[in-house]
Parts: sequence; structure tokens; C-alpha cells
Amino acid sequence: MSYDRSVSAPEHELEAETVWNLQMPQIRFGRDAVGELGHQLAELGVTDGAHGLLVTDETLVDLGHASRVREELTAAGLTADVYDGVEREPSISAVNECIEFVRDEQGPDGYDFYLGLGGGSALDTAKTTRAIIANGGEPLDYIAEPTGSGESLTETGNPLVLLPTTAGTGSEISPVAILSVEEKGIKEGISSNHVRADAAVLDPTLTTTLPADVTAKTAMDALGHAIEGYTTHEYDQLLRAADPGDRPVYAGRTPVTEMFSEKAIELLSGNVRRAVNNGDDLEARENMLQGALFGAIAGLTAGASLCHAMAYPIGNRYHTYHGETIAVLTPASTLGYNAASDPERFARLAELFGVDTTGMGTREAADSIKEAYLDLQQDLNVLPSGLAELTGVGEDDLDWLAERTVETQKRLLRCNPRPVTKDDVRDIFADALYNWQPEG
Ligand SMILES: [Fe+2]
Repeated sequence: MSYDRSVSAPEHELEAETVWNLQMPQIRFGRDAVGELGHQLAELGVTDGAHGLLVTDETLVDLGHASRVREELTAAGLTADVYDGVEREPSISAVNECIEFVRDEQGPDGYDFYLGLGGGSALDTAKTTRAIIANGGEPLDYIAEPTGSGESLTETGNPLVLLPTTAGTGSEISPVAILSVEEKGIKEGISSNHVRADAAVLDPTLTTTLPADVTAKTAMDALGHAIEGYTTHEYDQLLRAADPGDRPVYAGRTPVTEMFSEKAIELLSGNVRRAVNNGDDLEARENMLQGALFGAIAGLTAGASLCHAMAYPIGNRYHTYHGETIAVLTPASTLGYNAASDPERFARLAELFGVDTTGMGTREAADSIKEAYLDLQQDLNVLPSGLAELTGVGEDDLDWLAERTVETQKRLLRCNPRPVTKDDVRDIFADALYNWQPEG
């Protein structure tokens, strides 16, 4: 079985896409950008005396980041309640608790503005909460069929500003919120331009408290976005939706996403060793945050592909960190199986990664990226050697994982540059069990 690249073929004319667009939140980036939070909110129409909600987790409260944000609000004449119950890789019931908190405190109209502070989990909780308050109902209503009801969000809601404390997920600019659907054993996204934040404030001083292992894991996610975005289909190789409103949020690579991918791969691969080994290296942190932003602009517009599709069933069943899952799957999927789709592009990818490809043939250069990526992971010294070490997954689990991937991740597989069958996916999972020989 391979995937038709059409945008639901029976409903649309089978013509190639000819148009791309780029939708982004306002972006404010740099050291002490958080000091401009009040100004940012004012630009979104949040006026003196407004009362908002800060969605975050307990760790960020303990680290003092939440109070730093609240100080900026106070200085701007604003107030905010704090919801610090965010769950890692949030389930729908965890997000529902945040939504209930809003309804209990403020009634159905919710808060005047929303802030999300943290990693992808906090940002996705904030995005979903704002969307549900604005549109009514519950998260499952807006998750694609057959998991959810597949209704469309029509309202954006009151202003939402996101402040990432990791350099990785890209949730601060992406049009997707990822939730785990516990009863069905899968992770799904609410995908809509209405779920996207209005602004992202990226301040590298918020990222220096990130421990080395989380720095490494989130960096692998960011690299995944950059590389998957760089190697997915061009927008005009996908089919055109009859209505521009039906154009999927992951719409293929464009001249703009290509530029961001290339810079992101250089920044992330060139700075991650420094950021992991010395968390206080602010220059490396700034470069990582910028690389992650650029990777997200590229990959989360062009579209993540096979590796992300395979990561969701793993994350949901074994509760692994998303970035760590991407780290163990990327060599076999994006850099292994997919490299045959366009060797010249993968050879260029190796150069961007810092490999000296002088004297190599195209195929040899294309294959060298996988080795360079594995060398990088081993240098970081905090990542698992493969799927087996990450989750204890064995051969017996692979059929189930392959089936879940092809059945639940069509949104991502549609963009994969090389068609995949269920058997292919199983083989790629098997290939990812041991990326290198674990010690001991
Ligand atoms: Fe990701």
C-alpha cells in the first residue's frame, strides 16, 4: 500500500499545486526578549488591566521563569493566573483539566489573553486550551477522523503568546497541537491555522536552565524538523486542493522553507555539542534557539514526514520523550530509507552538516550524512543507542508499531518523499533497534 499524495482525491481535482503561502506568528527573538512581553501583548491589542492565563509546569515555576514572566506583566499593567499542571506529552484528559480551570475561573468566555511558557507540552496545552475556549466543545471534536470528529476550528480566540524554554519542538510557530489519545493508544494533532499562536517570544536566557539530556533530545527534534522539511516533496509535486482553505498545513517545501532548513541544519549541528556540554554557553544557546526556530519554520510548514509518523505510536505506547524518539528513528528513516529518494539532496545535506564530501561520489556523500549524524549523537553521550535501549522494544512489537503508523499517520506519510508500505515501516523500525552497539 502506498499513499496517494492527493488532498483526499475524490473531493478534489487532480492538478498540481501552483501556490505556496507562509503563515507565521509575530516573532520576537533575542536575549531579554521576554522584557518586551508587555509591548508584544499591546501590539496584539491587550490593553491595561487585562487579565490573562499563564500555562506552564511546576518545574518552570520552581526555576523562577514563571515569576519573571509575571513581573513583566505587572510592569505592563496586566495580571495573570497561573496554571502549572501541564503534563509531559499531554493527554486529552490533561488538557481538559486546563480547559476546565479556565471555565471554572472565568466562565465560557475565558481569559483576555493566554501565555504558554515551557517546552512543547506546555505550548501545546496553551494552544489547545485557547482554541477550545474560542470554538467550544472539546479537543476530540477537532482531531481528524477517525480518531476525532474532524470538525474545523473557525475562531482563533483571544491573543496567545508562546515563550519556549527549549530549543526544539517548534510549537511556538507551528499550526499543530499534539495530544495523546489514551483510550486509542495514539498521538494525534489538532491541525489548523486557528491553533497557531499570535506571537512567539524567544529568549535564549530562558533556555540555559535546560539540563544536558533534555537539551540533546530537543535538539534532535529540531534537527528532525529541519532535515525532514529539507527532504520532503516540493509543494508543486503535491496535488492542489480545490479550495485554498483546504490546503493542508503541511504543504511541501518551498523556496522560503529551503533557506530556513539550510541555515537551521548548520546552526543546530554546529552548536549542539557546545550547548549540551556547557549549558551556560549563551552564544551556543542563542544559536540553538535560532536553529530550532528556523527548523520549525521550514519543517513545520513544509511538513514533517516518515520519522515523525513513526515516532507518534512509540511515544504514545512507551511515553518516551518526543525528541529522543526522533533521535533513535532518524538514522533508519529519514537518513536511511528516504536517502534513495534524492541522493543529490542528501549529499548537500551532508555538507550542511559539516561533512567534507570532497572526492566522494553523490551516493557516497548522501550516505555519509547518516554516519555524521550518529557520530554527533554519540558525542552528546546522553542519547540511547537505538529503539531497543530507548523502550525495550523487541521484534515482536514491530508489526503492531508498523500497523499503527500506517493507519494513524496518513497526514505525515502523505508528504514522505519515498512511498512506504507497512512492511517497509516494519523493516525501518527493525533497522532502528540498534543504531550502535550499546556499552555493557
Ligand atoms: Fe517534532
